[in-house]
Amino acid sequence: MLNKVSLLDQKVAGQKVFVRVDFNVPLDKQQQITDDTRVRKSLKTIEYLVNEGARVILASHLGRPKGQVKPEFSLKPVAKRLQELLPDRTVKMAPDCIGTEVEAMVAELANGEILLLENLRFHKAEEANDSVFAEQLASLAELYVNDAFGAAHRAHASTHGIASLLPTVPGFLMEQELKMLGSLLSEPIRPFWAVIGGAKISDKIGVIDTLIDQADGLIIGGGMANTFLKAQGYELGASLVEQEKTSEAKQLLEVAVAKGKKILLPVDVVVAEEVKAGTVTKVVPVDGIEGEWKALDIGPKTIESYATVLRGAKTVFWNGPMGVFEIEDFRKGTEAVAKVLSEANATTVVGGGDSVAAIEQLGLADRISHISTGGGASLEFMEGKVLPGVEVLQDKA
Ligand code: 3PG
Repeated sequence: MLNKVSLLDQKVAGQKVFVRVDFNVPLDKQQQITDDTRVRKSLKTIEYLVNEGARVILASHLGRPKGQVKPEFSLKPVAKRLQELLPDRTVKMAPDCIGTEVEAMVAELANGEILLLENLRFHKAEEANDSVFAEQLASLAELYVNDAFGAAHRAHASTHGIASLLPTVPGFLMEQELKMLGSLLSEPIRPFWAVIGGAKISDKIGVIDTLIDQADGLIIGGGMANTFLKAQGYELGASLVEQEKTSEAKQLLEVAVAKGKKILLPVDVVVAEEVKAGTVTKVVPVDGIEGEWKALDIGPKTIESYATVLRGAKTVFWNGPMGVFEIEDFRKGTEAVAKVLSEANATTVVGGGDSVAAIEQLGLADRISHISTGGGASLEFMEGKVLPGVEVLQDKA
């Protein structure tokens, strides 16, 4: 149970409610949203508020415009998408997130209407967690709802500073994320396996360290597996290896052994000389990678052994692809993990861009217990860190 004051306990009818959402969605060159998951996942909170007659002020960042007004980082496409998703509601778009024009638009909001503020990061003060900027944001509303789990690892004005100025509660998405990810750290049904992939071990050392304690075992794939294999003395041809991280990788393997935890590494890999579609590939054992060949996906024997372990798991956390998932030739390992998880009789939690993309592309999303909207945030949460955007939520009395 989440020990935080709930949105359900607040009087919201007729109130101006500032909702920090994470609408940091991918856009293509035509400013079209290519994945609206984060918008759809915010709907539960937004719909509750409008149905209760609140005046809803939505705020988000999009991309990293670094304090400058850049049209390609405008939230206008999101306002359009939100209006499509809520056809019976009025969604207005503000030209900025602070200032007299915005204040006037807020004052004109009717109960049940929605105003989306323009990108918070058009102001340097947002990322600086500037107190004056936080006050300007807070002055727009009477209640602050943080539903931006994806940005909860950032101590910014809209995720942190504002919370000391208004009554603060989590939105329903934030609650769900904290409940599901939190259950992995507090009471996972065992066996609990973590599948960790992605290109670099340096991004994942913290989470691996925590998971050695929390999980029963770790399954490693992706480019980062190479660094572990190198630490075990294998020669990896021209594969991506973080040389400077091999001693840390060795240490993690030793810690796991000392704690009686398993870390599974690939036994075979798909290799190619070039990282491009349609190139010549072959499957080799991990001690057979030569010359200019690079390991770019886990091989069939590895897939089979990983699948066997995962079929017996009761809880699985997955972050990061097993290979160069963007290219079809190196996608089999990631697809296999996605498929096994979708069929598993287990609580399955997936966090992080490419593993989520794999699940979505395969149409398996509704067969996963929880897909986190947080990339960096879910990793930091799983490292056991207290996220600034969570720390500010009020505990129940
Ligand atoms: C994300 O996409 O992980 C969040 O929206 C945070 O974005 P940021 O890394 O630019 O702060």
